[in-house]
Amino acid sequence: MPATIIDGKAVAAKWHTETAQRAAALAAKGTTPCLAVILVGDNPASISYVTAKERACAADGIASRPIRLPATASQDDLLREIHALAADPAVHGILVQLPLPRHIDETAVINAIPPEKDVDGFTDVNTGRMLIGEPCFLPCTPHGIVQLLVECGVETNGAHAVVVGRSNIVGRPLANLLSRKGPGGNATVTLCHTGTRDLASFTRQADILIVASGRPGTVTGDMIKPGATVIDVGVNRVPDPTAKRGYRLVGDVDFPSASQVAGRITPVPGGVGPLTIAMLMVNSVAAAEELAK
Ligand code: GUN
Repeated sequence: MPATIIDGKAVAAKWHTETAQRAAALAAKGTTPCLAVILVGDNPASISYVTAKERACAADGIASRPIRLPATASQDDLLREIHALAADPAVHGILVQLPLPRHIDETAVINAIPPEKDVDGFTDVNTGRMLIGEPCFLPCTPHGIVQLLVECGVETNGAHAVVVGRSNIVGRPLANLLSRKGPGGNATVTLCHTGTRDLASFTRQADILIVASGRPGTVTGDMIKPGATVIDVGVNRVPDPTAKRGYRLVGDVDFPSASQVAGRITPVPGGVGPLTIAMLMVNSVAAAEELAK
C-alpha cells in the first residue's frame, strides 16, 4: 500500500495561526515582535529562503528588518551590523542566512548574536544548552521535525531513529533531540554520514528514517523498512526543461520508490520546508515575549 503523505504545510499553518495570535497579544501590549534577516551575497536558494521567511513574518504580524550585504562585504562589515542589531531593543531576533561567503568566519559571525536573540539556535551557547537539555532556542528544522512527529502521532519512545547527515544545522542537533527524554524523544538514535559503510544496512533498521544528506537519491525504496516513517529534509534543484523555472525541487529520498514501501513520508516540496519557517516564527515571537518581560 502506498505511504500516507505527511502534510507539512497543514501542520505549519496551525503553528502560524498560533504564532500570529501570540504576536497580536504582544502588539496589543505595545511590543511588535521584530526579526532581523541578514543575507550576504546573492545565492539564489538563499534569496528564496530569506524571501519566504520575510513573507511569513508579514503574515504572522512580525516585523522584519531586512539587511542585505554584497558578497564582497567584509567580516567586520557584517559584525558591525550584528552588533547594532544586538543593541537595538526594537529587534528581538537576528538571523544570518547560511552559508556565508568563504572569506567570512561563520562561527565568529553566529556567536556575535546574543543567545537571547539567536532564534536559529545556532550560537555555541544555545548549542551547549540544547546538548545538556537546558531551556534555549532550538534549531528550527530539527525542532520542527520533532514536533511534526509528535503532531502526527509517530511514536518515538523506544523507536529506532536513523538520521542520515551530520550537518550542524540538521543532522547533529536532530540526533540529540530525538535521544532526549520526553515527548518526541527517547528514541534509540543512529547517526549515519558519508563515512558510514553499507548505509542501507542501517536505514533498513529504522522505524523513523530522517534523511538530510544534501544529495538526491540517497535513500531508495529498497533501503527502507516496510511501514517506516520517512522524513525527507533535502531540497535540491534538478534541471527540468518542462518546468517553468527550468528546474524542479526534489528531496534526498527517491520519492517514487520510497513511497511504495514507507508507512508515512514527507513530500518535497510541502514537507519539512514549511515547518522550518513556521518554527522560526515561533522562536521569534518567543524571543519578543521574553525580551518584553
Ligand atoms: N541555511 C540553511 N538552513 C538554514 C537555517 O535554518 N537558518 C539559517 N540562518 N540559514 C540556513
